Formats: sequence, C-alpha cells, structure tokens
Amino acid sequence: MRDKENGNVDGSRRTWLIATSVAGGIGGVATVVPFVASFAPSEKARAAGAPVEVDISNLEPGSMMTVAWRGKPVWILNRTDRMMADVDKSTPELADPDSKDPFSMPLPEYCKSQYRSRPDHKNILVAVAVCTHLGCTPTARFQEGPQPNLPNDWPGGFLCPCHGSTYDLAGRVFKNKPAPQNLDIPRYMFASPTQIVIGQDEQGEA
Ligand code: FES
Repeated sequence: MRDKENGNVDGSRRTWLIATSVAGGIGGVATVVPFVASFAPSEKARAAGAPVEVDISNLEPGSMMTVAWRGKPVWILNRTDRMMADVDKSTPELADPDSKDPFSMPLPEYCKSQYRSRPDHKNILVAVAVCTHLGCTPTARFQEGPQPNLPNDWPGGFLCPCHGSTYDLAGRVFKNKPAPQNLDIPRYMFASPTQIVIGQDEQGEA
C-alpha cells in the first residue's frame, strides 16, 4: 500500500530513499535533495535483503535518484538520448566494455548490452553505487568536457572521490584506473512503467 505522504511503499518493505536530481539534464550539476524515509515491517526483513520497490514517476530525463538495497546505495538514472550516445562514445576507453568480469554479482542476462539496462527500458540505469576498488561511493559527473579531476575529453559519467576511478554512464570503469571492475548491476524488474523492483526479477528474488 502506498503512503501518499512520502511517496514510498509501506506494509511489506522498508525503504530509504535519497533523491539526487541533476539540474538541466546533461549539462547540469548533481545536487542532493531531500532524504525521505519510510518504515515498514521488520529489521529481519531488511537484514535479509528484501527487494525494494521504487516509484520513478518523478524521475525526469537526466536525473538520478539513490535508494538503499541490502545496505548499499543503488542509483537509478534516467538517461537522456545524449547520455545514451555518451555511453557509446565511452566504449573504446573502458577496461571491460562487455562486462565479462563482474564484480560481486553476476550481470543479469537482460543487461548485457553496452547500456547495461533492460531492453524495454533501455534509458534507465540501475547500478550499485559502490566503487569496485575500495568501496567508496562515486559521484555524478554528468557534464561533458574539461573540469577538475577529469580529462578534457570527459564524456560524462561518475568519478570516485577516493582514488579517482571513473565510470561511464552505464557504470563501466575506464581503463588504467584503480578500480578493477565495472559497477554491479542488480537484478531488477519493472512492476509497472513507473515502478521498479530492485533485487527481484522474473526469476524470483536475487
Ligand atoms: S575506492 Fe574508488 S577509486 Fe578507490
């Protein structure tokens, strides 16, 4: 049942939702906006890693939100067409463009394209925001071009603040960085066009 007050799901799941919006889409700067919490059943369910249901109806193109799943931050990024083109542009510069060497969980079969997303919602990226080097949380650097700590031909993506690893807009790590692998992509599915369930797909719970 939906809690109309805070927009989250209650009853069977516990969700922390941290929304991060990116003003102006591809040319914008990531800013953190409200931290919303809702509480549902038990610590036991949360500890067991229950799937998390997320409403993305307000997730504008070019914007990203972060939710917690199994104690880890998970990004949901609504990529614009330009961002999708940036994924293609990044491919030659990546350490493992085909994600042949997954980090801590297998890459779901339906996420094996370069976009690493479900083909029926290709623009939506769902990725675990844990750097594969030493576990920091990378930050959004969606703006293209020269800027501090990034190359002049930066195509847009993510920068880990700890040791400088960079990831493209599909969570794939660039070459010659401390991080050895791409970001994890969890199993997920769409319960409706605007409702994502993280940690569960047609095969059951992850
Ligand atoms: S933890 Fe991200 S680069 Fe080291």
